[in-house]
Amino acid sequence: MARLLSDGVCNAYLLDVWTKSSHRRRGIASELVRRLVAEVPGQHVGLQTDNAQALYRSLGFDFQPDFMSIVSGRWLEGG
Ligand SMILES: CC(C)(COP(=O)(O)OP(=O)(O)OC[C@H]1O[C@@H](n2cnc3c(N)ncnc32)[C@H](O)[C@@H]1OP(=O)(O)O)[C@@H](O)C(=O)NCCC(=O)NCCS
Repeated sequence: MARLLSDGVCNAYLLDVWTKSSHRRRGIASELVRRLVAEVPGQHVGLQTDNAQALYRSLGFDFQPDFMSIVSGRWLEGG
């Protein structure tokens, strides 16, 4: 699976990229990401990863060192 959230104008965010363990290293995640990115031509696509830099580098993503974030309240404790 993979999800892309877009504002429909200029910014999109890629998340929840996941391939079932038994099906990894067959190009599935690469193809999912390629298809999602193709859906938002002209938009800036961001993501955060701790462990899959090689995957995204191979698809043309580059590092953007000044990424910042905050958790609103406590993580996973919504209203
Ligand atoms: C990361 C993940 C999505 C990759 O899925 P996949 O379908 O196996 O990816 P692909 O087959 O398209 O791999 C493409 C390339 O990414 C890189 N890559 C993928 N998995 C890798 C791994 N475990 N270690 C190093 N490089 C890896 C390789 O360059 C690979 O090309 P190659 O197989 O020709 O060497 C999968 O391992 C996964 O679901 N992991 C757990 C969830 C996760 O970490 N998601 C990423 C969160 S941002």
